Amino acid sequence: MTATPEKDQVRIFDTTLRDGEQSPGASMTLEEKLQIAEILDDMGVDIIEAGFPIASNGDFEAVSEIAKRSKNSVIAGLARAIHTDIDRCGDAVKHAEKGRIHTFVSTSPIHLQFQMNKTEDQVLDIITDTVTRSRNLIDDVEWSAMDATRTPIDYLCRCVEAAIKCGATTINLPDTVGYATPDEYKEMFVQIRERVPNSDKAIFSVHCHDDLGLAVANSLAGVAGGARQIECTINGLGERAGNASLEEIVMAIRTRGDILPYMTQIDPSFLVRASKMVAGASGFAVQYNKAIVGKNAFAHESGIHQDGMLKNAETYEIMRPEDVGVKATSLVMGKHSGRHAFRDKLRELGFELGDNALQDAFRRFKDLADRKKHVYDEDIEALVEDEINVLGEGAKVIALTVIAGTGGPQKAILTMDVGGQHVTKEATGDGPVDATFNAIKAIVPHEATLSLYQVHAVTEGTDAQAEVSVRLEADGRIATGKGADTDTLVASARAYVSAMNKLALRQQTSNPGALAAV
Ligand code: KIV
Ligand code: ZN
Repeated sequence: MTATPEKDQVRIFDTTLRDGEQSPGASMTLEEKLQIAEILDDMGVDIIEAGFPIASNGDFEAVSEIAKRSKNSVIAGLARAIHTDIDRCGDAVKHAEKGRIHTFVSTSPIHLQFQMNKTEDQVLDIITDTVTRSRNLIDDVEWSAMDATRTPIDYLCRCVEAAIKCGATTINLPDTVGYATPDEYKEMFVQIRERVPNSDKAIFSVHCHDDLGLAVANSLAGVAGGARQIECTINGLGERAGNASLEEIVMAIRTRGDILPYMTQIDPSFLVRASKMVAGASGFAVQYNKAIVGKNAFAHESGIHQDGMLKNAETYEIMRPEDVGVKATSLVMGKHSGRHAFRDKLRELGFELGDNALQDAFRRFKDLADRKKHVYDEDIEALVEDEINVLGEGAKVIALTVIAGTGGPQKAILTMDVGGQHVTKEATGDGPVDATFNAIKAIVPHEATLSLYQVHAVTEGTDAQAEVSVRLEADGRIATGKGADTDTLVASARAYVSAMNKLALRQQTSNPGALAAV
């Protein structure tokens, strides 16, 4: 979609892989980041902030790799106002057809005094120096005034003027601590654009955190004040209460075009799929009543609503579910479906598996169809995502028997494939899940601690597949695994083993030889 005289284009800058990944416990593997970047690129995100290249070798590798693979999106990396950060960022984004260095410094009195121990004039010198250095490396430079909303407007004007003078092409004024209200935030952009010389030489950007639940409202207010770039994340993932949610912003602009005279080039039919992908990779499940992408966002339970919906969907629906990629739940496959039909169904759902993975997934699908009356698209998605989770990695769950009930202790008898060998052990625990996890520990001894255990039903009914997320932590590293099965305990074991494999893989990458015990 191109901008029309009536509708200004607003650029969508997605920072799921940087600000989103920064939220505690949300770290993602390289493979997950590449998949997310691909869907963001495909859906029409203008700028993807792929990471913080100086933060670790893993971040550098992710930004470089995403830069190499990007098709249409600009690929940005974040850099503090330090030469080594900027140079490292430049090295990572140079692989992109369109790369951007995003450098930032704090400008508020509280940050200057307590975090930086610098005077206002010193920070102005830093801005001049670091924006100039960035511009010497690349043409597309974004400068951010961290904690802009708590910065006196006169000083903020001087900072923005310095950044534009040194060649910053985008000026981002974040509400870093989620403190602003919509009127205030709008007014800040109006003032800055009016008062700063050459303000028309840069694109202004909003970046809002959701501490008071105002991130989306503030972002739209900033646009009303003249900003034309919105920084946001899928599912609103991000530090503390999160960032403004991409799907809410895109659909608000699209649905209320009557009073929001803007447009984005996002194809909204990717939104639900991107949301599921980010939830899976980060381990942060989406709440059922989350706007746009929550499981209940288009569900109508009450009789009055259902009656209205049957007569005319617009009685209670302001958006069509299919616009955001919600498929009508379909009964698709059963135990008589063959391998060909299964592969076609996978393609329709967007999965392309290699021969071995397809074989494994098909075997599990048959197994599922034997146990579950109706197999829905969601079941197949969960099963295949689970398959992808364990692909090519160390240990695998082969068989599990659990003895549970009122008279504890509960007992698990588990067989796993570890390095090609089948090992069986028994363990007891405080409940069946604990017993299962203890049995895994008995087979693969490790020190990792469990920091998250979540169970969701994939579809309706008592024979629904359970989708379990498990997060493990060891030596400051975090990994999230998912598992799906009609048996919650089997799903739990698969999720735990998947997280354990990922953690081992990470340890191995940073310290070859450390695989044995996670
Ligand atoms: O919230 C913030 O201020 C940021 C900056 C680094 C842009 O994330
Ligand atoms: Zn932020």
